[in-house]
Amino acid sequence: MKITMIGTGYVGLVSGTCFAELGFETVCVDKNPQKIETLNNGGVPIFEPGLDELIKRQVEGKRLSFTTDVASAVQQADIVFIGVGTPTSADGMSTDLSYVESAAKDIAENLKGYTAVVVKSTVPVGTCRHVESIIRKANPKAEFNICSNPEFLREGSAIQDFLAPDRVVVGTDNPKSKALLQKLYSPLEKKGHSVLFTKIESSELIKYAANAFLATKISFINQIADLAEKVGADVSDIALGIGLDNRIGKKFLQAGPGYGGSCFPKDTKSLATTAKQFDCPITIVDAVIQANEDRKKAMAQRVSDAFNSKTSGKTIAVLGVAFKPNTDDMRDAPALDILPALIEMGFSLKAYDPEATEEAKKILKQSEITWCNTKEDALQNSDALLVLTEWDEFMALTPGVLEQYLNTKTVIDLRNIFNVEDMTQAGFTYISIGKKPHFPLKEINIKSCNN
Ligand code: UGA
Repeated sequence: MKITMIGTGYVGLVSGTCFAELGFETVCVDKNPQKIETLNNGGVPIFEPGLDELIKRQVEGKRLSFTTDVASAVQQADIVFIGVGTPTSADGMSTDLSYVESAAKDIAENLKGYTAVVVKSTVPVGTCRHVESIIRKANPKAEFNICSNPEFLREGSAIQDFLAPDRVVVGTDNPKSKALLQKLYSPLEKKGHSVLFTKIESSELIKYAANAFLATKISFINQIADLAEKVGADVSDIALGIGLDNRIGKKFLQAGPGYGGSCFPKDTKSLATTAKQFDCPITIVDAVIQANEDRKKAMAQRVSDAFNSKTSGKTIAVLGVAFKPNTDDMRDAPALDILPALIEMGFSLKAYDPEATEEAKKILKQSEITWCNTKEDALQNSDALLVLTEWDEFMALTPGVLEQYLNTKTVIDLRNIFNVEDMTQAGFTYISIGKKPHFPLKEINIKSCNN
């Protein structure tokens, strides 16, 4: 069985490579000749741990190849995946389907023999039917069926997520394409991973519901963290205390500066827009989107508060700018809101990220930011440390090390990577998320609750 993947972004490249790892001959297609040249020369256009070795192994094993020739790649395939980007439209709330539509046209012109056409890109419900009609219109005689197969991998752990998924979801409406997809995912099913077949519309909506639910969990714990600070509780204990209930689960309850990345911000907005279009607003998701926007503003304010708003002439060492560790992706990273807000407040910044600096420099061009090559450079003579991303290499920093570099012992830790007791015992002003080192032991006024 031959697989063709159109699009070599995160989803396309990782999925295509992993299909090869599962034993299927896979061709990855991209219109961008530079990307294909990089891949054919052994390079990888994205940073994803382990991907370079996996690609190398599959290319050497002749199961994986890269091309710009969409015609021959589609003609020879039993299954063609659409794995192109679906960015937010210019209106900021809906999804730009132009790359999906263009891929559909390319596929239509080149289909040969029966083919399952599978949409893997994250697309609003109804898009598979739209793709089907584009292909049908362009090539009425084509023998194909449309399927939906959303991807649930996370950046930074994409290969593991693909090869050991919690579940695979496939939306089909006929036995022929279902049989092909069953065959494709049988290696994972044999290893005990669930493969769920649903209606096409259910499959499309599962993807958005999953991301919106996870984003809700994060915004929920972020707001609980704020309350914890006010009442002298500890958000990590609360996350564990609720997470040990299997109905809630421990994952995605890490309070922080707000969620970012190429998926949660985009997909929550897209789902909210779809819901409104169908006159069925999902107000919980509207609230999550708003809470996340407010959160980033509140985080910048937290830094200013640490200096009693005396920000002028102060330099902050910013450790981490990527939206999460193990990626160089800056899309919708909280840093993109927080850093400009800090500059506006009068701070100068010395920033360091192990992988995302080059990407960040393209967007954050302010002269108030000095980009550093090491964390030590960023810390040297800065007036405070601000932790924005929880990279492993920051975990090894201790109060003793920080003291050697910083002008003043002030740390604003938006990822809770340090221990409150260690920091306060070492004499640091330590501001974290959802926990306060010295909670004033005054009685909480509960009268208002009883009235
Ligand atoms: C997310 C989903 O987790 C994947 O299942 C999905 O396939 C993917 O979107 C997608 O739709 O393509 P990803 O964006 O790579 O994956 O990153 P996550 O690990 O989910 O993190 C997203 C954001 O939430 C990050 O900014 C992270 O710092 C934040 N987060 C995550 C928290 O603030 N707290 C948590 O407990 C977890």
